Amino acid sequence: MKKIIIINGPNLNLLGNRETDIYGKTTLTEIEQLSKNKANELNLRISFYQSNSESEIINLIHKTQTDYDGLIINPAAFTHTSIALLDALKAVSKPKIEIHLSNIYNREDYRKSSITSAGVNGIICGLGSLSYILAIVALNDLLDN
Ligand code: DQA
Repeated sequence: MKKIIIINGPNLNLLGNRETDIYGKTTLTEIEQLSKNKANELNLRISFYQSNSESEIINLIHKTQTDYDGLIINPAAFTHTSIALLDALKAVSKPKIEIHLSNIYNREDYRKSSITSAGVNGIICGLGSLSYILAIVALNDLLDN
């Protein structure tokens, strides 16, 4: 069975309460459950993580090379700031997808550039928790080919 890791960045532990007009009322635990349901359908195993710490996220990205077949990441605010995350993603030769709940291109100017997206195969954003589900489907396709 193929194994994928889903990594969630800072403040995403607050989903469900945080800026619900932008991020919706679905909690991260609910997104984890929805993701696991989709993974079961596709015969994938998912490890789901959230961290507020850049160094922990970097270590999880590194682990992808040895322990997983592919990666999905919502880098949250580190999307717009972190060359360190970009370098870590570039060091991993497995399929990688960046996701966002919100459409980062129709928000504040400082969210309109993603540093990390140069290190992934593709991006899905603006679809709420569906961004996670579509990323799992897309990653499964990349793993099959
Ligand atoms: C986010 C978008 C980022 O700009 C923001 O910092 C987040 C969440 C999203 O999923 O829409 O924390 O990654």
